[in-house]
Amino acid sequence: MRIAAVGKYLPEKVLTNADLEKMVETTDEWIVTRTGIKERRVASAAESSAEMGARAARAALDKAGLVPADIDLILVASVTPDATFPSTACYIQHKLGAGKCAALDVQAACSGFLYGLVVASQFIATGAYKNILVIGAERLSSIVDWKDRGTCVLFGDGAGAAVVQPRADGKNGMLAFDLGANGGLHDILYLMNGRTTGPNGNDPKEGPHYMKMSGQDVFKQAVTEMGRSARKVLEEAGLAPADLACAIPHQANIRIIDALQERLEIPREKCFINVQRYGNISAACIPVALEEAETHYPLQRGDKVLLVAFGGGLVWASCVLEW
Ligand code: ACO
Repeated sequence: MRIAAVGKYLPEKVLTNADLEKMVETTDEWIVTRTGIKERRVASAAESSAEMGARAARAALDKAGLVPADIDLILVASVTPDATFPSTACYIQHKLGAGKCAALDVQAACSGFLYGLVVASQFIATGAYKNILVIGAERLSSIVDWKDRGTCVLFGDGAGAAVVQPRADGKNGMLAFDLGANGGLHDILYLMNGRTTGPNGNDPKEGPHYMKMSGQDVFKQAVTEMGRSARKVLEEAGLAPADLACAIPHQANIRIIDALQERLEIPREKCFINVQRYGNISAACIPVALEEAETHYPLQRGDKVLLVAFGGGLVWASCVLEW
């Protein structure tokens, strides 16, 4: 497999830390020191996850020189789907006018895009499909409690998309991958919306459901599991951190990224960071960062790129790509 092109879409509306100071008891200084985030994007009423995902997908298709009818499969990762069903992938297929291709959502929280990328690579390896769209699209502003300063400062909205294809030389550009989960930690980061094991999320007596997070537990797990997973794929690919053109970690918090970078001994300048501009956009973090990293470095064919993510579940994923 190879990633033929990446695209992104970010809503225009910027919410700064100064704006948040007027909404909850917080300060720009607290947010920047604890998270590195300076601003994030917030979607308008018209910008659903499917709408943003479709726009990111169009950008990726344009760059790849493809039209929607070329797509064999659409995989969408999102913790903020437009509906429980149909899948966001079905909505995006319709918005793109992508014929009747296969469409499927992948639920792996913030690791969803990387899980999707690995799933796509399997279909490429078997020869089943030639053009796969993998999309991470999130509208986290709709599941954040805007009165809870402990979480509302952390998240943002946006989407990124990648076109995955077979390589012309028949080689696999995914040199190694690692997927894992620890369901025992399901209660440190979750959203009970749409559940089927209790009163449903729309029960007016219960009120709206918001994301719940035990920040310090998530922090510790993120550093441990991303560090272990990244080391594993580097070892499997036979690479040292110095061999990487760049590393793109999940963009949740600058302190998590710093700790990871130190543990893995990845040179600072090779670690791509945009959390200061967008906050945590969950499954959209990696594809949006990938799109920006491609311009920032710029990536050449053959470069080695490390991608690593974690999220609610707890789930983690990493891979090394040969660009
Ligand atoms: N402004 C000012 N003060 C705040 C704010 C805020 N926005 N939020 C919390 N505080 C206060 C707390 O109330 C607490 O006050 P107290 O000491 O009087 O009780 C104090 O700041 C310290 O709070 P902690 O929670 O201990 O702060 P911590 O240093 O752990 O930072 C943070 C909190 C930023 C949430 C951190 O734990 C973190 O980043 N965790 C990981 C979160 C994460 O990555 N989540 C997403 C993962 S997966 C996904 O992407 C969906």
